[in-house]
Amino acid sequence: MRAAVFGLGYVGSVMTAALADAGHSVVGVDVQPDRVALLAGGGSPVIEPGVPEAIAAGAGAGRITATADVADAIAGADLSFICVGTPPTPDGSLDVSRVEAVCATIGAALADRTGPAHAVVIRSTVMPGTTERCLGILAEASGRAPGDAFTLAVNPEFLREGVGMSDFVSAPFTLIGCREEAWAAPLAELYGFIEAPVAVTSPGVAELLKTVCNAWHATKVSFANEVGRLCGELAVDPHELMRLFVRDERLNLSASYLTPGFAYGGSCLPKDVEALGHLARHLHVELPIIQAVPRSNERHIDRAFAAIEASGCDSIGFLGLSFKAGTDDLRGSPLLTLVQRCLGRGLRVRVYDPNVQVASLVGSNRDYALSLIRRLDDLLVTDPADLGADLYVLGHGTVEMAAAARALPADVTVLDLVRAVEPEELQARYLGLAW
Ligand SMILES: NC(=O)c1ccc[n+]([C@@H]2O[C@H](COP(=O)([O-])OP(=O)(O)OC[C@H]3O[C@@H](n4cnc5c(N)ncnc54)[C@H](O)[C@@H]3O)[C@@H](O)[C@H]2O)c1
Repeated sequence: MRAAVFGLGYVGSVMTAALADAGHSVVGVDVQPDRVALLAGGGSPVIEPGVPEAIAAGAGAGRITATADVADAIAGADLSFICVGTPPTPDGSLDVSRVEAVCATIGAALADRTGPAHAVVIRSTVMPGTTERCLGILAEASGRAPGDAFTLAVNPEFLREGVGMSDFVSAPFTLIGCREEAWAAPLAELYGFIEAPVAVTSPGVAELLKTVCNAWHATKVSFANEVGRLCGELAVDPHELMRLFVRDERLNLSASYLTPGFAYGGSCLPKDVEALGHLARHLHVELPIIQAVPRSNERHIDRAFAAIEASGCDSIGFLGLSFKAGTDDLRGSPLLTLVQRCLGRGLRVRVYDPNVQVASLVGSNRDYALSLIRRLDDLLVTDPADLGADLYVLGHGTVEMAAAARALPADVTVLDLVRAVEPEELQARYLGLAW
C-alpha cells in the first residue's frame, strides 16, 4: 500500500522506516525543509536505533520519497498518517492545532478526489473530541461528506524512544478508534505484517486510552519510588521488596482491581493504606500518591451519594451492604457509609443483603456496623421485593442482585455502582456511577 506520513519527528520517522521495511511505499511530509531534504536523500530525520538503516534501504529501493507539497503527497496515497507534535500549553492542555492544520490541508487536497475514500489516520497523541472535530475540519475543507472522499481514524502510537522500531512491530495490540467500523479496514490491511491483535473501538476510547496508559506508567514509576523512599528510611532494601512485589501476578501485576466500580473497603485495605501513610508521616517522608489514596476513595463515595441526592428520590433500596458480595463483613464497607449518609439526610432506607443478619454479626464486625447505624436491624429485609423504593442502589454484582434489578418496574430507578447490568436489560431507568 502507499502511505503519506505527515510530521517527520520520532513517530513519523519510525513509522516511515517500519512501513518501508515491510514493503509499503511511503511519502514523508514536513514543514521543516531540512527534514524533507534529509528523508528525500535517504537520511533519517531522527537518531533512533534501526531507523537510519531502514530508511536508507527503503529510499534505495524507491519505497521512500519526501515532499513539502501536501497535494502531491496524497495524490497516489491510500492513507495519510498525521504524526505532528501536540506539545503542552501553559495551562497543561495539549496543543492540537498542528493536527487540525494538517487536516485542513489534507481536506483541501481531497476536494476533487475520485476513487476510493482516502483513509486519514491520527497518530499524534490527542484528547477526546479531537477526532470528531477533525472530521468536521476535513469535511469543511474538502466540501465532501465523511465516508465519501475520506474516512478518519485515530490510531495512537505507543512506542518508546530508543526501542521504537521493535515497539512498532511488536505492539501488544493495534488500537483503532473510528466512528464507522469499516473505516478501520485499510489500516488493518496495512498493518497486516504486525503480529498483534487489532482492537477497533470508539474514537473517545482510543484517544483517552493513550494518555491513560501514560498516566498509569508514570504512576507505576512514582509508586515504586515512593516505596523506595519509605524503604530508605527503614533500612529495608527497596529492590528486594519490589522484586518480590512483582512476583505476585495474581493481584499485583494483573487485571485485578482495574475495573471501574465502587469504592474499596473491608477490614484490610483502608486500615493498611492509612497505616502506611501514618508511618510515612512519622518518618517525615512525603508519599503523595499513597497518602492521597483514601481521599480518592472518599471522592468516589461522594459521587455515589451525589447521584442519590440528584435523583430526587426519598426512598432508597440497597441491593447489597457488605464490603464484598458473598460475605457478611461490614467493616469498612462503603455501602454501609452510603446508607448512613442517606439516613443522615432523612431518606427512607431499606437494605437487602442475603448474608447480613444483625443477630449473627459478632465481634468487631458487629461493633463497627452498629457504631455507624445503631438500628441497622430495622432496615434489613429478607426479600428484595420488600425494599419498596423509588431508587435502588445496586452495590453487589452477583447474579441474584442483577436479577433483582432486572425484575424492577419501569417507574423506579437503578443506580448501578458496579456495572452489574446494562441499561437495555432493565425496565427501570438506569443510572451508572461513572458510565
Ligand atoms: N516521541 C515519542 O516517543 C512518542 C510516542 C508516542 C506518541 N507520541 C506522540 O506523537 C506525536 C508526534 O511526536 P514526535 O515526538 O514524533 O514529535 P516531533 O516534535 O519529534 O515531530 C513532529 C514533526 O511534525 C512536524 N510538523 C509540524 N507541523 C506540521 C505540518 N503542518 N505538516 C507536516 N509536518 C508538521 C514538525 O516539523 C516535526 O518534524 C505527538 O503527539 C506525541 O505526543 C510521541
